[in-house]
Amino acid sequence: MHADSWAIKAKKLGYRSRAVFKLEEILNKLHKKKSLKNVLDLGSAPGGWSQYISVNYPSTKVIAIDVLDMQPVEKVTFIKDSIENIENIDEIKIIKGRFDLVISDIAPNLTGINTVDDENILELNLLSVNIAEKYLTDQNAAVVIKTFQNNNLKSLRKHMELFFKIVQTYKPAASKNKSAEIYLYGAR
Ligand SMILES: C[S@@+](CC[C@H](N)C(=O)[O-])C[C@H]1O[C@@H](n2cnc3c(N)ncnc32)[C@H](O)[C@@H]1O
Repeated sequence: MHADSWAIKAKKLGYRSRAVFKLEEILNKLHKKKSLKNVLDLGSAPGGWSQYISVNYPSTKVIAIDVLDMQPVEKVTFIKDSIENIENIDEIKIIKGRFDLVISDIAPNLTGINTVDDENILELNLLSVNIAEKYLTDQNAAVVIKTFQNNNLKSLRKHMELFFKIVQTYKPAASKNKSAEIYLYGAR
């Protein structure tokens, strides 16, 4: 399907971004355990991924965090803050160790200078992995992280392998072929 067709499909279904189809494919292919109690959405705005969980897992509690504002999503608790401050956010701390899915579509503002951008991406990715490691439960828990195909990908994967039994890279059909973005999935 062409990239624009995904955008049209998202609009038709009332989703805020076509990113939902990437998450949908990853969860359907890699994470078949359907029951989710608590989900943490890192870098959630404009809210497509939160919407997807809210619609498809009606009894799941979703906590979303972004530095930007996000229009309310039904049944989703939104916190406007940086993930760097996560340890100071009571609504999230209270569920520490009890999330069964962490989803991170986080991307930094790009400078156009590759080495700087790659470092900024790696920093946010590593932070996402560390948050997942601390906030997920011990059993049947998983993390999905958006990253980019660059020189840091291998070491990021290695870092994930320290904490997750299964680590897989995945390029969903809804992700444009020419885009360097790629998703890492880790499961305990
Ligand atoms: C690609 S968007 C996420 C799209 C979202 N998954 C959706 O489906 O609508 C990436 C987001 O990461 C956020 N972000 C970047 N750095 C952040 C940080 N340190 N803490 C929280 N959010 C951050 C950006 O503000 C941006 O909204």
